[in-house]
Amino acid sequence: MRTIFPAAAAAVLLLTLPPASAFADGDAENGKKLFARCSACHAITDQNKVGPGLHNIVGRPAASQPQYKYSPALAASGLTWDEPTLDTFLKAPTTLVKGTRMNLAVAKDQDRADIIAYLKTLSGN
Ligand code: HEC
Repeated sequence: MRTIFPAAAAAVLLLTLPPASAFADGDAENGKKLFARCSACHAITDQNKVGPGLHNIVGRPAASQPQYKYSPALAASGLTWDEPTLDTFLKAPTTLVKGTRMNLAVAKDQDRADIIAYLKTLSGN
């Protein structure tokens, strides 16, 4: 098999996938199920519950949901929720942001990838 084949296959894959999942490493469908761990505190809309609404969270600056009263620690973090930062946060929230009120950690790498893939689908209006 010539090496050109995987590149062509990848190009076809990128063209056929919808934009929201084109660059996801995780399984958004599984992430949606895993989000059950989050939904006690987080809505997938802009509505705030115990935690801030997570609509459009991927790419958003931390602590930017209007009307939500963030901890001083998260408000001062200066973070932006790109995928690597979300991954680090979800692995150990209080390690990345000492003093954050979000303290649910997701230990498994694949679970975090799946959850982040799902969070990426929560964009647009
Ligand atoms: C027990 C409640 C609770 C659970 C469960 C929970 N969170 Fe949170 N989360 C919070 C709180 C409270 C904050 C705000 C933290 C702060 O202000 O320091 C937060 C903040 C966040 C933020 C930052 C939001 C922003 O606007 O900057 C993200 C991202 C997040 N949580 C993702 C998740 C995900 C994904 C899960 C599930 C794996 C989850 N959380 C589970 C309570 C929770």
